Amino acid sequence: MVTKRAGTDALDRGAFEAAHASGGHCPAAAPAAGATAGREVPSAPGKHWLLGHLPLLRRGILPALVELRAAGPVVTVQAGTGSTYVVNDGALAHEILVDKNQVFGKERMIRGFQAATGDGLNTLEWAEHQERRRIVTPAFGRASTAHAAPLICQVAADFARRWPVGTPLEMDREMLKLSADITVRCLFRSEADPDTMSWLATKMSTLSKGVMLRMAAPAWCPPLPTPESIDRWRAKRRVRQVVQGLRERHTPTERRDDLLSLLNAAACPAPGAPGIPSTVVSDELVTFLGVGSETIGVALAWAWHELARNRDLEQAVQREADALFNSGNPLPEKVDEHLPLSTQVVMEALRLYPLPVVPRNALREVTVGGFRFPRGADVLLNLYGIHRDPALHPRPDTFDPYRWAPESARTALRNAYLPYGAGAHRCVAAPFAALSGAIALATLAAQFQLRPADPHCQVRAVAGVVTRPDRLVMTATPRTGKTI
Ligand code: HEM
Repeated sequence: MVTKRAGTDALDRGAFEAAHASGGHCPAAAPAAGATAGREVPSAPGKHWLLGHLPLLRRGILPALVELRAAGPVVTVQAGTGSTYVVNDGALAHEILVDKNQVFGKERMIRGFQAATGDGLNTLEWAEHQERRRIVTPAFGRASTAHAAPLICQVAADFARRWPVGTPLEMDREMLKLSADITVRCLFRSEADPDTMSWLATKMSTLSKGVMLRMAAPAWCPPLPTPESIDRWRAKRRVRQVVQGLRERHTPTERRDDLLSLLNAAACPAPGAPGIPSTVVSDELVTFLGVGSETIGVALAWAWHELARNRDLEQAVQREADALFNSGNPLPEKVDEHLPLSTQVVMEALRLYPLPVVPRNALREVTVGGFRFPRGADVLLNLYGIHRDPALHPRPDTFDPYRWAPESARTALRNAYLPYGAGAHRCVAAPFAALSGAIALATLAAQFQLRPADPHCQVRAVAGVVTRPDRLVMTATPRTGKTI
């Protein structure tokens, strides 16, 4: 791996191509990959005769994921009537996501997202998924991402200008606002006023809660009409109206390679060419806005939390940010190459605080790593546990961005670090996410210092679709004595 970003892109392409080499057809028509006897997957320790593995959750989902990782490469846990196969080993996760991706569906993900986003990319599988991915991928190519860099800097600088100093701020919400603005202006090439963006960011969290609840609920359980679910339904309707406004204010890039231009073109295909319905354009915008904003937003919030706890690291990030943004020089062409430490800080935030799990279901009996997964097996890839495995990441609970420095050979551990998933469904926006995370962090670090509003308040990580802080309130103060 030459530099981290180059390596990340290469991995992205490699995994994607490998996953699609076999065609991406419906698995019902594919040969039975890997279906043999195989060893039985052991049950996780600590099973109660009546409660199953529910006692594991006494300290919360995230500590349970760490405990389960220590129990072996794959274990079953029982909660209620069903068993879940928890995969705690990166190589096995890779086998499921890449080598045997034809045998594993995304039923739980689709159930979670469809109600909130409609038919967006992350609710599609097989040929339909491949076709939609083909439409949107150019928006995240190397050239488009590089072109977006100056605009990302601009959006972050605009946000910094408006940021209230000296006021306690809920950091995950603030960073969600910033990342939603980046998504709207850089990917959709549209805009909305700050109040609308702030509103959108809040409603995206509401929708995300609904996604989580639907994903966690058993398939047979219909959505219940609770006050919260009615609130989510209203939020969904209003979000779609706002998204319609974004479509109307679209200013395409000259190259017409922004996400909304690509989707609009697919909605008006040439005669005889395959296309997508116009409603799907809105489904995709809600999908990308929701998934994109929350993931980057929460990673940035965690990065600020960790920087405030490590002054040396914070100062190193500030020096890097000053050299780029406070030197009085025009921005260089390849901004990202000047932000290696900020990039590593975001990478490390995603190691410690990734999407806790990626769900899959076995479409037929299959062996993975020599273990037998029966047809219908409900599978959770335990990213949170894998990222905290001491055999893969020495001092796993320590926030240490330097572990990702290019000179450290560890950057090549592809099975040890899966924040963006792998294979056919690997995050389509990974390079864009890494770039915008680093730029947003450095832009704000060039101007502000952040400290917890209450230094005695313990911040706890809680599991949702992403790993979020329970309550992370910080105060921004303008930096004095900038190094340049
Ligand atoms: C730090 C930021 C991010 C993280 C950690 C992240 C993580 C992930 C992961 C783990 C997956 C794979 C899910 C699976 O295999 O089932 C995924 C897929 C996806 N991500 Fe991201 N993501 C991030 C940023 C973004 C951004 C910025 C966008 C859009 C603006 C985005 C859009 C998507 C979409 C549409 C998919 C579905 C891809 C497919 O099924 O082909 N993500 N992401």
